[in-house]
Amino acid sequence: MKEAILVAGSNGAIGKAVCEAILAEGNYKLLTVSRTAAHFSGAEHLTADLSDPESLPAVKSWLDGMREDLAGVIHCAGLLHNSRVKPEKALSQLRAESLAECLSANVLSHVHLAQAVEHKLRKDDPFRWLSISARIGSIDDNRLGGWYSYRMSKAALNMFIKNLSIEWGRNYGQVSVAAMHPGTTYSPLSEPFTANWPKESIFTPELTAHRVLDCFSSLLPEHSGTLYHWDGEVIQW
Ligand SMILES: NC(=O)c1ccc[n+]([C@@H]2O[C@H](COP(=O)([O-])OP(=O)(O)OC[C@H]3O[C@@H](n4cnc5c(N)ncnc54)[C@H](OP(=O)(O)O)[C@@H]3O)[C@@H](O)[C@H]2O)c1
Repeated sequence: MKEAILVAGSNGAIGKAVCEAILAEGNYKLLTVSRTAAHFSGAEHLTADLSDPESLPAVKSWLDGMREDLAGVIHCAGLLHNSRVKPEKALSQLRAESLAECLSANVLSHVHLAQAVEHKLRKDDPFRWLSISARIGSIDDNRLGGWYSYRMSKAALNMFIKNLSIEWGRNYGQVSVAAMHPGTTYSPLSEPFTANWPKESIFTPELTAHRVLDCFSSLLPEHSGTLYHWDGEVIQW
């Protein structure tokens, strides 16, 4: 029986392309979680808002109904802007509500899913977790400032991934937990900010999805606790 990979945020541009690539390769059973209804044939889908802690019991019991072993998770959910959240250019624009919404989407949706899958992990069985984060969340790498809510929430996600890598590494041995910066990719998230960029500096979701799967597939326990750039380089936290 095939093992399964769970993709969260499966209706986003990168998430959807990752799912399509997994289905095209055919090596794994695909499980998808999204706030929207099922959007792939050939996948098992759960509609859930992972930023809401009340989604946890439904995710757990859905996973318990799967016959396949879970090989890993690729978490693609994230928020930069919506009708209420706009990336800040100055301190005066920073609002508690925007920061809370970014923390909810960019951190809590990852935390809740980790809490929901933890009971599927077995001591000494391999398991991979890859969260799509952003270079902009690296504190060392911050030279431009701005985008307070997004930067702060991605920095918090990065710390969550580092912490999780330590705890799961201690408890389960063969687990690898990492984060990845996908590079600027055509999507609703990047679209308002890339209008004047040269086209060759923006990646298609399909290219990014292949890089995400390459990163996921090559994760070993010794890589746990790392933030990867899309080209495989390690980014300082
Ligand atoms: N595109 C880029 O240039 C770029 C660059 C650096 C990092 N990233 C990161 O890559 C990831 C994917 O981004 P994308 O470009 O594919 O963006 P996207 O098309 O906007 O997809 C983001 C997905 O995140 C989920 N999401 C958004 N708000 C949420 C909320 N409040 N609660 C729970 N889930 C929420 C949604 O998934 P569902 O609709 O399936 O629920 C949404 O479709 C994000 O983490 C982003 O920060 C992207």
